[in-house]
Amino acid sequence: MLPAYPTKVFINDEIFDYQNAKISVFDRGFLFGDSIYEVMVQINGRFFYGKEHLDRLSDCLQKINIDFAIKTVPQKIENLIRASNLQEKDCLVYIQVTRGIAPRKHAFPRTSSPTLMMYSLPFVLPDVNEKHISTVTMQDQRWHRCDIKTTSLLGNVMANNDASKQNAYEAVFIRDGRITEASHCNIFFVKDNIVFTHPADEFILDGITRQLVVRLCDDLGIKLKEIAVRQEQLIEMDEAFLTGTTTQIASVRQLNEHFYYQNEEIGPITKKLQKAFLELKKKITEGIIH
Ligand code: PDD
Repeated sequence: MLPAYPTKVFINDEIFDYQNAKISVFDRGFLFGDSIYEVMVQINGRFFYGKEHLDRLSDCLQKINIDFAIKTVPQKIENLIRASNLQEKDCLVYIQVTRGIAPRKHAFPRTSSPTLMMYSLPFVLPDVNEKHISTVTMQDQRWHRCDIKTTSLLGNVMANNDASKQNAYEAVFIRDGRITEASHCNIFFVKDNIVFTHPADEFILDGITRQLVVRLCDDLGIKLKEIAVRQEQLIEMDEAFLTGTTTQIASVRQLNEHFYYQNEEIGPITKKLQKAFLELKKKITEGIIH
């Protein structure tokens, strides 16, 4: 069993045992969810698209006007991983930057310094599609800036909780009749050998894994259209799959009452992408390519 809590937590420039890691109740991350986060994985001592995750963190911080020196983060992650005894191991790193501590007023404080909180946990990425995933659709009740990776995730956690009560892995969101994404993954569909996914606009998070799948489709000569699938088209699709840092590329077997396949028969395009993804992951984590 992997531990649920990390041994160490990094807060600003100090590393604490997790039981002693404390943040002020006046931190705006706590009061308002005024903060940005990232989740990335290290495999074989190498980060999988670590630069892309840190670039997205930096972009999101800029979008909400948090002035933060991202350049210092890689060294701090290294210190944290060493303190957590996870060098060369497979682990996950959670990073959160808040606007910092200030009296509770909605408008941004004139002065405050961002809080950086990070931890690392042993984590082994499963081979893709160990489980055959069920999903359920739900109205997308989130705000209109889902491109910002904020910790204000109430819409996502409520939807995921509803999905899990229905024994489903994911909640698939519908906004204005169109499929956007899922509560912690992006979603793709395949119809007549063409891959469809929602465009990377303000209604979805442009996942690092999503971007990789877009590139893989190009490399493999698979046609891809960044066009949202409509709710009524869901059952006409041949395949569906989810993407995310910890989910990787996972085919969807069931969406509501509809089955895309029976037993273990994952669709051919999903399978092809999973194979290419695994090969790429192996090359990156063995240091063959960067
Ligand atoms: N979730 N869409 C949403 C809403 C997400 O929260 C995530 C990531 C993704 C996939 O992004 P990426 O491929 O960069 O991981 C899409 C993370 C893993 C989480 O909240 O734990």
